[in-house]
Amino acid sequence: MKMIVLGGSPKGEKSVTMQYVEYLKLKFPEVSFDVKQPAFRIRRLEQSPEVFDDIIKAVSQADGVLWAFPLYVHSVCSQYHRFIELIDEREAGGAFAGKPAAALSTSIHFFDNTAHDFIRAVSEDLGMAFVDSHSANMNDLMKPAGRRALEGFFDTFMDAIGNGAPVVRIFPPRGTATDEPAPNPGSATMNPEPLRTGKRITIVTDSTDGRLATLINRFSSTFEDDVEIVDLRKLRIAGGCMGCLHCGPKNVCRYGNTDDVINTYIEKIHPADVFVIAATIKRRWYSSLMKSFIDRGFFHTHQPFLNGKQVAVLLDGDITSNPALRDGLTGFVEWQGGSLNGIVTTMSGNASEVDAATDSLTRRIALALKKDYLRPATFLGVGGIKIFRDDIYTRLSIVFRGDHKYYRKNGIYKTLPHKKPLRLMMFRLIGLITSFPPINRKMVVNMKDFMLMPYRGVLKKATTTADTSEVKDRSSVA
Ligand SMILES: Cc1cc2nc3c(=O)[nH]c(=O)nc-3n(C[C@H](O)[C@H](O)[C@H](O)COP(=O)(O)O)c2cc1C
Repeated sequence: MKMIVLGGSPKGEKSVTMQYVEYLKLKFPEVSFDVKQPAFRIRRLEQSPEVFDDIIKAVSQADGVLWAFPLYVHSVCSQYHRFIELIDEREAGGAFAGKPAAALSTSIHFFDNTAHDFIRAVSEDLGMAFVDSHSANMNDLMKPAGRRALEGFFDTFMDAIGNGAPVVRIFPPRGTATDEPAPNPGSATMNPEPLRTGKRITIVTDSTDGRLATLINRFSSTFEDDVEIVDLRKLRIAGGCMGCLHCGPKNVCRYGNTDDVINTYIEKIHPADVFVIAATIKRRWYSSLMKSFIDRGFFHTHQPFLNGKQVAVLLDGDITSNPALRDGLTGFVEWQGGSLNGIVTTMSGNASEVDAATDSLTRRIALALKKDYLRPATFLGVGGIKIFRDDIYTRLSIVFRGDHKYYRKNGIYKTLPHKKPLRLMMFRLIGLITSFPPINRKMVVNMKDFMLMPYRGVLKKATTTADTSEVKDRSSVA
C-alpha cells in the first residue's frame, strides 16, 4: 500500500510531527511511505512548478493521503496554507479527488479542533474520502497510551483504505464569493455624522483592491479619526514563522529587522486602540499572506498583545460555511485579550445589508470606546488562557522563559487554584459545614435562593449611574 505523507511543519524532517510519522513507518513496515515536505519547501514549490508537480504526481499515485501537521496559531502554518492555495491556483485538485485521507497533528491542544476541521473541509472540497483525525499532544509519543492511540488511528485508516472509504461531507460546500454583490459605497449610511473617537485605529489588510477595499473604505470613512491602513502586500515579509522558538526566552524573533513584520506589530498594532483584521478568504481560511503575518506575531509567544483593544474583522468571502474560521478568529482575539465587536463579510447579505452591517459595527466600536466596554471572553478565550497558564507554569517554562516571567509578574499564575490557599480553605470549610445532613437538606431545598445570595447584595447597591469601579484585571471577568 502506498501512502503519501504531506508534511505541514516549516521544520521539515526535524519536526516533532515527523517523529510520529517515523513511528508509523516502524510499526507498519508493509506500507510504503512517501514523505513530502511542502511546508518546509514552500519557496521551492512556488518558484518551480516541477517540484510542486512532483508532489501532485505522488498524490495521484498513492492509495491514501496523510496530512501530517503541527498546530501553528489556531490552524496549520502559513506555509501549509500556501501549499493548499497552490493546489487551487495550479488547478491540481484532480489528483486528490476520490483518495482516502486522514489527518495527524501534534500540538498542545490549543485550537487543534479548528485546524482539523479546516483540513477535513479542504479534503471534502477536494472530493477526498476523509476517514479520521488524530490530534496528538506533542508528548503523546512518549506514553504507551499515546503510542497505542496512534497505532489505532492508523489501523483505522488502513482498514478504511482496504475496504473502500466513502466520500461523505460534514461541512457545507463553500459559498462562492463571486456569486454575491459587492458592498455599495454609495448606499445610505446609518451614521449621519462621522464618528469621532479620538482613538488610534489600525487596519491590517492583505488586499486594498476590489470587494475588500470597498468594505475597508466603508469602515474607515465612517470615522473622523485617522485610520491607518497597513497593506501586507507592500510590507517586506522575509518569510513565515519557522517555528525555531528563538523567541522563547526574550520574545526576540530570529528574523529581527530583516523585514518589516516586527516593527509593524510594535509601531502600529501595540499603540492602537482599535485593531482591524481585513482579509481575503482563500480555501476556507484567510489568505496565507495574512496567516504569515499572524504566525510571525508568535514572537509575543503566549503573552496577549491585544489586551483592552477593540477589535473587528472584515472578510472578503463566506464565513457561514466556515465555522472553524469563525471560531479560530474569535478564539484568537479573545485569548489575546481583545474585545471582538463583530465580523462583517462581503457576503453578510446583499449590498445594502453589508453596508448596514459595517455601519453597525463602527457604531458598536465607537460606543464601546466611549463606555470602555470590553466583552468578556467565551469558552474559546477562557479555555485558551487556562491551557497556556498550566503549561507555561510547568513543562513550557523551560523554553518560554519570557512567558513564565510575564505570567508571574502579571498575576496570571494567581488564578491557579493552589495559589489562593485561603480561598481554597474557605471553600473546603463551607463544603464541610454544608455537608452536615440537616444543613445539607436545607441547602438542597433552598438551592435556588442559596445560589442567588451573593447577587442580592450587588443588586441592592446598584444605581442608575455608571459603575466606575476600577477594573484592575480583565482576566478576573473570565
Ligand atoms: C509558532 C508556533 C505556533 C504554535 N501554535 C500552536 C497553537 O495554536 N496551538 C497548539 O496547540 N500548539 C501550538 N504550537 C505548538 C506546536 O503545535 C507543537 O509544538 C508541535 O508539536 C510542533 O510540531 P513541529 O515540530 O512538527 O513543527 C505552536 C508552536 C509554534 C512554534
